[in-house]
Amino acid sequence: DAGDHESYMRKEILEQPTTAQAVLRGRLDDRFGTAHLGGLDMDARDLRAVRRVKILGCGSAYYVGQMGAALIEELARIPADAEAASEFRYRDPVIEPDTLYVAVSQSGETIDTLLAVQEVRRKGGRCVGLVNVVGSAIARECDGGIYLHAGPEVAVASTKALTNMFLAFALLALQLGRVRDLSIADGKRLVAGLERLPAQIEEVLAIEDDLVEVAHSLAEAQSLFFIGRVRGFPVAREGAQKFKEISYRHAEAYQTSELKHGPLALIDPGVPTVALVPHDELTERNIGALHEIAARSGPLVVVTHEEVDLGGIDARRVVVPRNEPELDPILLTIPLQLLAYHAAQHLGHDIDKPRNLAKSVTVE
Ligand code: BG6
Repeated sequence: DAGDHESYMRKEILEQPTTAQAVLRGRLDDRFGTAHLGGLDMDARDLRAVRRVKILGCGSAYYVGQMGAALIEELARIPADAEAASEFRYRDPVIEPDTLYVAVSQSGETIDTLLAVQEVRRKGGRCVGLVNVVGSAIARECDGGIYLHAGPEVAVASTKALTNMFLAFALLALQLGRVRDLSIADGKRLVAGLERLPAQIEEVLAIEDDLVEVAHSLAEAQSLFFIGRVRGFPVAREGAQKFKEISYRHAEAYQTSELKHGPLALIDPGVPTVALVPHDELTERNIGALHEIAARSGPLVVVTHEEVDLGGIDARRVVVPRNEPELDPILLTIPLQLLAYHAAQHLGHDIDKPRNLAKSVTVE
């Protein structure tokens, strides 16, 4: 059972520093700045032959797939994208022999993801799995893969499995990068970053008390935005998904850059925005968008880094530690889990079993 915790979701959120170590264990190579992923069953030549990566998953697994695609493009310079597995087979997809297909699933039983894998393999494509449950249907259907080792996840809303999906993508991106042009120095920089991550996840969890009141104020709104750009946009999508799933509030993710092309019309004192503003090359532009929101009296919660100066903007700052920029998305994601959790708790919802949802959807 959930033991001393009020819910499995909270228990699973708090387990993340430990479960994150489990997915990395034995897979990092400090000496060559790379990763070893025996379960992939691909040698350096097979990895070199990959010309494109297509990631398939549903719900949170799809959004973390978008984070994974960004990691692969950045580290390995291979075109990569994620697609909702639930849509994939309906458009009679072109399956290319030099594309690596990656199916992502906590349960390994989601029927839409399983049928996508079967579509790929029926047409002769190579599909590997990022799966938590050992021996599950998707794990068996794939050519090989990376087990997530997050342990059993009971709450419908995925937290620790999602974090390990991100870390598994980082390992895959590192290995794909190091058989290409990713330098040993960059490889070592990322290995060191991954080694630091579990302790930094612990640091984020330590700010939980500061987030409770913020979450309660967000829970009062009928509708809210989550905004981010480039690496931060899938984080915004995942944050909005969690909020919808367990608080039943309308939460919409938007690219910060697109705000001015439409949804700015909806911003007013009753519509809060949770903005992801990491310290990176886009910080100044992101702050420009915050000014637009503040000018319309939209309440702001800004998930950011210590170095970022919001000037005079009236906002609740949520500060997370910095890692390497490529790995920062997961540290930005964790406060959003806590915001959704405390909003749902404030509203008195059944957090582990939200209405109308199942942990894994195994029928079409
Ligand atoms: C959905 C769940 O139906 O399935 C989501 O409600 C989950 O929380 C999604 O992210 C995918 O599940 P899995 O097991 O394939 O990762």
